[in-house]
Amino acid sequence: MSELQRLDKFIASQGTLSRSEVRKMINSGKITVNGEVVKKADGKIRFDDTVCINGQEILYKPYIYLLMDKPSGVVCAVSDKKEKTVIDLIPEKYRRKDLFPVGRLDKDTEGLLIITNDGDFAHKVTSPKTNLYKTYHAIIDSSISEEDVQAFADGIVFKDGTKCRKAFLRQLSWDNHPIVEVKVCEGMFHQVKKMLSVRGKKVLHLKRTAIGNLTLDSILNKRKFVEMDYLAIHGILFDNLHEIYC
Ligand code: URA
Repeated sequence: MSELQRLDKFIASQGTLSRSEVRKMINSGKITVNGEVVKKADGKIRFDDTVCINGQEILYKPYIYLLMDKPSGVVCAVSDKKEKTVIDLIPEKYRRKDLFPVGRLDKDTEGLLIITNDGDFAHKVTSPKTNLYKTYHAIIDSSISEEDVQAFADGIVFKDGTKCRKAFLRQLSWDNHPIVEVKVCEGMFHQVKKMLSVRGKKVLHLKRTAIGNLTLDSILNKRKFVEMDYLAIHGILFDNLHEIYC
């Protein structure tokens, strides 16, 4: 890569420092480019130059893709005056200012969440047109019927007349509080809870277990965060998508 970029802008884009903080570090001689101490914040660098802060190399990454096992009790927002957000939980080594959650899980919903700084990617994941089904496991208050399954397949209609796209519903356990699996390709506010409520079911607990073929267990495997590279996450989410879900 040989594209030119301003040094202060480049460093600020790769971490949590603001451009003025970066300029202070440059003034105090803490930044080197290809081993030479630099004094000018507006100097141009190429993406294959080696830039170090206090001797620590900054590895250039235009985009990052983090998978998170979201716990309940935190909100899906970049910042919030009262509540802890998913962004607050990101470990130091992944922190940078431009990250945001892809789509939204409710405060009390757990499960698989992607965090990125890639807007085009986020749009592709969340757009109903992509047909990328998200899988949820819900603990509900009573068993479902064949009619419920059919109503999900036909498209649930909310009280305000909004019609949901085709969704999949199946029961996974048959005790007092059965577990059902729900697959939806949209992300309307409280969608799964509202769809089940239309069929007279109350959701007691909700967890997102997969986004397309990206599953919580296979990738995170009990870890709270995992970083995936562009090719891996795009491959799992979008390759063969239409063969699988259409
Ligand atoms: N549907 C819901 O009702 N809540 C979520 O958090 C996600 C999908």
